[in-house]
Order: sequence, then C-alpha cells, then structure tokens
Amino acid sequence: MSQPDRQRFLEGSFAPVTEEITVFDLPVTGQIPAQLDGRYLRNGPNPLGLDDPNYHWFLGAGMVHGVRLRGGKAEWYRNRWVRSKAVAAEHHQTWPGGPVHENMDFAANTCIIAHAGRTLATVEAGPLPYELTYELGTVGSYDFASTLPGGFAAHTKLDKATGELHAIAYFWAWDHVQHVIVGADGKVVRTTDIPVPDGPMMHDFALTGKYVVLLDLPVTFSLNAVTQGKELPYVWNPDHQARVGLLPRDGSAGVHWIDIEPCWVFHCLNAYDDGGNVVVDLCQYNQGFDVSTLWAAHGPVTLDRWIIEPAAGKVTQRRLDDRGQEFPRIDDRIISRPHRYGYSAVIGEVARAITAAGDFGDDAFANAILKHDLASGTVQTHDFGKDATVGEAVFAPSSRDAAEDDGYVMAFVHNPDRGAADLVILAAQDFTADPVAVVHLPARIPLGFHGNWLPDH
Ligand SMILES: [Fe+2]
Repeated sequence: MSQPDRQRFLEGSFAPVTEEITVFDLPVTGQIPAQLDGRYLRNGPNPLGLDDPNYHWFLGAGMVHGVRLRGGKAEWYRNRWVRSKAVAAEHHQTWPGGPVHENMDFAANTCIIAHAGRTLATVEAGPLPYELTYELGTVGSYDFASTLPGGFAAHTKLDKATGELHAIAYFWAWDHVQHVIVGADGKVVRTTDIPVPDGPMMHDFALTGKYVVLLDLPVTFSLNAVTQGKELPYVWNPDHQARVGLLPRDGSAGVHWIDIEPCWVFHCLNAYDDGGNVVVDLCQYNQGFDVSTLWAAHGPVTLDRWIIEPAAGKVTQRRLDDRGQEFPRIDDRIISRPHRYGYSAVIGEVARAITAAGDFGDDAFANAILKHDLASGTVQTHDFGKDATVGEAVFAPSSRDAAEDDGYVMAFVHNPDRGAADLVILAAQDFTADPVAVVHLPARIPLGFHGNWLPDH
C-alpha cells in the first residue's frame, strides 16, 4: 500500500458494530477455569457513522466490550458506547455529565481499568476518563474527585506494592507533560510538570522501582496539520530531539534526559532497575512513523530491549524479536519489577494497515499471540489461522499470589466460521495447546485497543 487510505480503518476487522447487545449465559467450548471470577473488558473506537472521509482510527467514540466470568460460566457479554455528550445526543439520551477539561469531552476509547473501586475508560491528549458501572453503563466523566488538575492519560501503570497508579498526561496547549500519581484511595497524590518542547505525543511510558521512564519522541503537535484539516494533528517532526527521560519516583530530582536516535514507540512491555541502569522492553517503530496518517514507511514493529545507562548518559538497544508485533503485555502484578515473560499480538490486518511491511506471505500466520520467555530467549506462538483476527492478549493469574506466568492469557479472536468473536482463554504454561476455554460471543468485535482482566477479588 503506497498511499494509505483512511477508509481502511472502517473496513474488514476494523468495521464498527451498530448495536449494543446484552447476552447471558454464553455457550462455551472447553471449561472456563473456576478461579476466573471477574470481568474481561476491552475498549476501542467504534464510530457512530461511516460518513467521515477523514476518519482517524484513534478518534472513534469508545465502545467497551465485556465478558463476566464466574463459577466456570460466562455469565454475560455486553458492549456499550461510552456516553460522552456527543454519544448521548446521538442516542437521544441525557448526557450523564461530569467535569470537562478544556472543552475536550470525548468518549474515552483507548483503555479500561479498575482503580479504587471504579471502572474507568481512559484516553489521552486532554480529555478526562469516563467512569462506567459494573455493567458498562456510563456514570459520567471523572476527575478523581476533583483532584486531577488537567486531562488524564490512556495508559496507566499500577504499582501493586504501593497501590499507586501512575500516568503521564499531555495536552497540546501545555508546555509540559504531567506525571500524575493517583493513590490507592483514588485521589491524586502528586503531580509533577515536566517541561518539554514542541508538544510531543506520549502514548505510553514505563515504570521501575526508582524511576518513571519518559519517551520524548519526534511525533509532535502540529498547528500546520490542524489547518490542513488533519483530525489527529500529531506528525513526525525531524527537528524534535528524541530522548529518554528518567524521573525519580520519589520526587528527589528532575528528569535526567538522554538523547537517542529518532524512532517511535506506542507501547512498553515493562521496565525495571538493574543496578544503576534501567531495562525497558518495548515495541519499536523505525523512524518516520506519521501518527496523523497512521502510516510507517518502514516496518516491521519489533520487540526491542533498551538498556538506559544514566551514569554513562547513553542508551543501548538489542533486538529481542524481529517478528512484527504490537500490544505487548506482561503479568501486571510484575509492573516495575524484573519480568521473565511477555505476551504480544501478531495482527496482520493492523500491520498491513499501518506499515509497508505488512506482508505475511501466508495469511494463516498473520493472526497469533506470542509468548516471550526473555530469560531463555525463546518464543512460543499460538496461531489462530486465516481470518481469525486477534487483538491484545492480557494475562490473568491463577490466584493472587500465583507465580509469574501461572495463569491464563485471554483475548478476543474473530471466529470466521460464525462471523462473530470468541473470548479465547489459553493456559499460559501450555501456551500452544488448544484453548482451555472458548466463549462464543453473539457478535463481531471490531479490532480495538486495550483491555484488562479485572478480578472481583
Ligand atoms: Fe496504547
């Protein structure tokens, strides 16, 4: 594909659904592990109409898809649009209301988390999260009980040891980005403004025991792109110095910045301290990724390890896996500490849509989840087959204190025979075997962004 077509994010596996559905007691092949008691929720864009010639994948109204598991059963499936003002109006409903940052009300479409007893749909670049009910109805927009001064972020990192939820907020009109710590009680504990030039997009970040790891990369806000009518005005900016920043979590010092070669990163797998150094594993795009068109001339997106050496002021890189992949996840209980395992998704349809390297040769190998053992350097692949488009995979532990990788890996996978989605549950320690359970959902689920397993206990 030489000239990316914006309609590509409205077709095929990206095509939005038109209905909100509630179904109880879903059919299951296999046996849902009885330990899984909670909800698997996933957010993603689901535009209300198909008539926008400038549609950008990142700007569709958020729709959350959820499956409730309990006692070895799949109790329900629900999908609900997040009721922003515009989405409520489209449904001829009263907007539930809530705070709005800088007139940026938006149906948060990027991730969904649970924190301090609330279910929150999140998005970045200015808007606030939306709080949802347990059954995915919209409570309203949410600013952490009036303790958040600005907008929030799509990606958050929960440090299980401290109960602190970390985020990096950015907004085009700010001359800084903002590190936010939300306490276990759901109120903002501290914010730190970090001056940055050019208004960079900071989609994700990483956390270690000592540091917040900032990725200040050359994709920045562009007024020129606004005047050209680009709906998401963040462009590749070769004049913006790419750098990695280490912000001490204890607030003892400012950011230690280290220049790096230009590249783009949407997602980090995890990071940890290693002596005085910091190890970050992430999915890296080569230079030239244009967020405004979602197009990279060079691919694929690889899994790489960065070793940040603050004393030497340098970052070295090592390729962990050169296969095209995205949506890297770990066992979230390990966040900020050394991890051994990682899970990521091979999504041929996304790779084809965003890079020139999206040729998988045989489509039977274009839909897979990978399990990386970063200690042994091995990768296991669970292939789903032709047209069985898979999304991000998340890890659910067998129990609260189970070892890393002792649990399940779950994802929505398109079932081409039924023309609808399945929730596929794999045993993490028997990764290439048949799924332990496949929950058959009543409808398609468009390719989306991020989800989480949210246990009830
Ligand atoms: Fe993301």
